[in-house]
Order: sequence, then C-alpha cells, then structure tokens
Amino acid sequence: MAVVGLGTMGAGIAEVFARAGIGVVALEADAEALRRGVGILDASLSRAVSRGRLAAHEQAAIRSRVRPAEAFSDAAAVDLAIEVVPERLELKRQVFAELDRVCSPAAILATNTSSLSVTAIAATTKHPGRVIGMHFFNPAPVMRLVEVVSTVLTADGVAAAVSDLARRLGKSPVQVSDRAGFVANALLLPYLNHAVRLLETGYASREDIDLAATAGIGLPMGPLALLDLIGLDTALSIMEVLHSEFGGPRYTAAPLLRRLVDAGRTGRKSGRGIYDYADASADKTHSNGNMAASAAPDTVTLIGSGDDAEADLATALATAGINVTRNPAHPTDLILIAAAAGRPVLAAALATGRPDQAVGLHMAGGLAEVVQTSLSSGQAVASALALASRLGHSAVRAVDRPGFLVGALLYPHLADAVRMVQDDYASPADIDTAMTLGCGYPHGPFQLLDSVGPAAVLASLESMHTAYGDSSFAPPPLLAEHAAAGIAFGAGSEPVGAGSASAGSAAASSAS
Ligand code: CAA
Repeated sequence: MAVVGLGTMGAGIAEVFARAGIGVVALEADAEALRRGVGILDASLSRAVSRGRLAAHEQAAIRSRVRPAEAFSDAAAVDLAIEVVPERLELKRQVFAELDRVCSPAAILATNTSSLSVTAIAATTKHPGRVIGMHFFNPAPVMRLVEVVSTVLTADGVAAAVSDLARRLGKSPVQVSDRAGFVANALLLPYLNHAVRLLETGYASREDIDLAATAGIGLPMGPLALLDLIGLDTALSIMEVLHSEFGGPRYTAAPLLRRLVDAGRTGRKSGRGIYDYADASADKTHSNGNMAASAAPDTVTLIGSGDDAEADLATALATAGINVTRNPAHPTDLILIAAAAGRPVLAAALATGRPDQAVGLHMAGGLAEVVQTSLSSGQAVASALALASRLGHSAVRAVDRPGFLVGALLYPHLADAVRMVQDDYASPADIDTAMTLGCGYPHGPFQLLDSVGPAAVLASLESMHTAYGDSSFAPPPLLAEHAAAGIAFGAGSEPVGAGSASAGSAAASSAS
C-alpha cells in the first residue's frame, strides 16, 4: 500500500499497516517533509520499545516494511493508496489525479479526509468507483475506529474489502455515508469548538474546562488538550466544512480558534496551541491552580433543599470534622449551598442575607463544581475550593448559569447526538461505537444520556436555551419525545435516569 502525506496522521497510518505486516510506500512532496514524517514514525516506534510494548527486532522489521519515497511513480504497484494530505479539496484532487495516473485501475484509492466530501474527491477521478473514505483517528496506532465512507459512486464490494482490511489491521470499521464530518467528527468538533467559546468568553479557565471533561464526564482528555492533539488548523478546517454543510451557530468556528491558527499556534505539532508544549513539565500536569489558594473553613452553613445531594454533602462535611450549622444567622466561615440543576444558586444566596459569603457546591461524579454567583466574594470561592480539596475532590470554578460547567459542555454534545439519530444518519449504537472506539469515550453519548435521563438533559437544555437564546441549545424534538415517553435510547432500554449501569455515573450525578 502507499500513504501519501506523512504528517501526524499519515505517519500513524503507515505504522498501523507496517505493524500488520503490509509493505508501505511512504510518499512525501520533498526530502525535508519525508525526513520529518519518518521521524514521527520512528519516534512512535521507539516510544513503544521504551515502554516494553515492542521488541527491538520487531521495530526493525516494521521499519523495514516502510519505503520512503518522493515520486508518485513509486506507488505504481500498490493495491491500495491512502491520501493523508492537508484538508484542501484542490490539493486532494491533485493527489488523486497523480494516483489515477500511476496506479492500476484495480487499486483502491482511499482518502483519510476528516470532513471533506469523498464524493467531490471521487467525481473528478477516472475511476470513481474505486474511491472511498478510510478515516482513521489520532493517534492512529491506538484508536480502534475506522470510518469507511462510501459514496453513491463507490463500486460494489469496495467498502466490504476496505472493512475487511481494517479488521486485518486490528481496527473496528463502521460503514457510513458521505456527510460532512461523518459520525465522529460531526459530533466531536462542535463540542471542542464550544469549549473554545467557553474559554474565550471567560466562562471558565482552560484547565477547569479540561478537568470538567475528564473528572466530571470521565473522558480520556479535556477538549482543549484534545484540540492541541488533533491540530487547531485541522479542527478549524473541519468546522468550516460542517458550517458550510449545516450552517447555524453550533457550527460557527469560535473566533479564538481562528486567531490561534492565524498566529501559527496549531497545537502540539507546532509546540504551542491552547497549551504551551515548550515547557513539558508545566504542560503535562495542566494544573488548574484551584487547590492552594486558601485554607478550608472550620465552620460552614449548609443550605439545601432536602435532597440526596444535600444529605451527601452534610455527611462528607461531618466526616471531615467540619462544624455545620443550617442557620444562616449563625456566623460561619462559609455558606455552602447544595447546588442542583434548575435551581439558581443566587436565589438561595440572597435568602441567607450574606450572599458575598455564599457559594454553591455541585458534585459531578468525583468532581466538585464550585458555583460562584455574581455576589460571591473571592475569599468565599477560594475557601470552597480548599474545602473541596479537603473532602478529597478535584474542583473547578463554575458560574451560576444553567448546566454550571460540566452540563454546559456535555448537554449540547448529547443534543447533537440525538439530532444525528433524528436525522436518520446513524443509530444510537453506531454513535456510541464511534465515540468509544474513535475518541476513547468510556461510555458513548447515548449511554451517558440514558444514565442522566432524557428528561433531565432536556430540562437543562431548555434552561440554557432560555438563558442564552442560542439555537445551539434548542433541544431536538426526539429528545423531548423520549423524555415525555420515559424511554431510553439505548439498546438495553433500562429505566431512564436510574443510573443503573456504571455508565456515565459522573454525568448522571451532574444532573441531580
Ligand atoms: N502514537 C502512538 N501511540 C501512542 C500515542 C501516539 N501519539 N499516544 C499514546 N500512545 C499509546 C501509548 O504508547 C500507550 O500504549 P501502551 O498502553 O501500549 O503503552 C497508550 O497509547 C496510552 O498512552 P498513554 O498512557 O501515554 O496516555 P493515555 O493513557 O493518557 O492515552 C490517548 C492517550 C490514547 C491519546 C487517550 O488520551 C485518548 O484516547 N484520548 C482521546 C483521543 C481522541 O479523541 N482521538 C480522536 C481525535 S479526533 C480524530 O482524530 C479525527 C479527526 O479527523 C480529527
């Protein structure tokens, strides 16, 4: 096979094929680009050796299967060529014209495009029936998903052959049709872009946004760190394609994303994106600095509405040896309001008569969301952060708005997944498979949604929609129907909102 373009993805794909015993012609435009691309491959293999995951002789064997080349004619004898050049249709068409010229008509020509129309690429080739999308996920050697994208022009048997090949590579293929972003990127990118918007509007800090996703939702990476991995330029290209196909604010690229790309801050590959990778020690921890600012309070006034969240908090405070009163007239170090979705913290804070000393605390799994109102003092917020730490929780600052921070990130993402089902593009099971195998989600969006409960997600989205008037948050009718009927989306269809599976326990508690 041949890989055309040895950037992060191309080098990763070359590694996947070579590891499976398949000879790879690794093509780049010039010697310098080739040297860089082979360097990416070598670094990945050396890392596997140093971690004890690959023997030195296997590394040598894999490497010997990869033949670096600069001329398309070197790919004349391949059975499969995969194009992995930057996301520009014209560039891709040029590559396909060259492949058309040199490869046998029996060879399959695949594109790894993240979002461009495979049909538009195929239509200008001599044999569009053998053109297909074969979309890998970053890091290609690790992520198991391959989206196999057929067009109306794809010949019978090509998708099946590519799916069989993907299985031979140890991957899990899903067959999808040619729609912008396919399944995974059409869901992932708007969520990542929304995270950038939360950052640029000062809704939360970058570290808190990422911690909300990892500790609050259970995802393997925060959205901002993931953008740096994918490449901000790639992410921007995908957003532009999604916007041109679907329109609307949810698909409008965040201005900050565009500015960072303009500035050359494209992520890990350039050494700087949303985070700075020049100082590796600083970046690996991505500390949100929320822990050390203040001493934990000795006495706390606890205000709640008699629900489980309040009872749990009372128990945790007592266990930590903190004196708790329920009477706001008693002087204490901090007023803690057991926050819940749909109940603004500010109203409860005002009712205490000491709103400056009051903050909300909302648990999302093991993550504490310290909810500050516009009247909370900095001292009260710092004290609540220290308290969360003393109770053994990671903590983020959240503003007193619908969804706080975890819900503000997650619920619009779940709504996008429901919209995709509503549009009859993919099933809940396909979507869960794509996001677990392609993006490392421990539980797919529909497992998360069912464990929170469609009614709770619906209520939060309605509050967000009312608060901002942004159509991105308008709940899809299908979600409202499931909420009204009390039925889950998942194949198992357990009672909704029961949190019965361990799936999404973090997010489930974020709805309470
Ligand atoms: N290349 C090769 N292998 C890598 C790697 C890389 N760049 N990064 C990590 N790995 C391997 C490690 O060697 C390790 O393997 P072993 O267990 O065999 O030693 C394994 O992956 C886990 O790595 P780490 O322990 O270093 O790190 P981790 O546990 O934090 O996992 C991660 C890292 C796999 C990247 C994980 O954080 C994850 O799944 N993140 C989500 C990534 C994601 O969403 N990808 C999809 C992006 S969207 C896309 O790619 C589509 C598009 O078109 C834009």
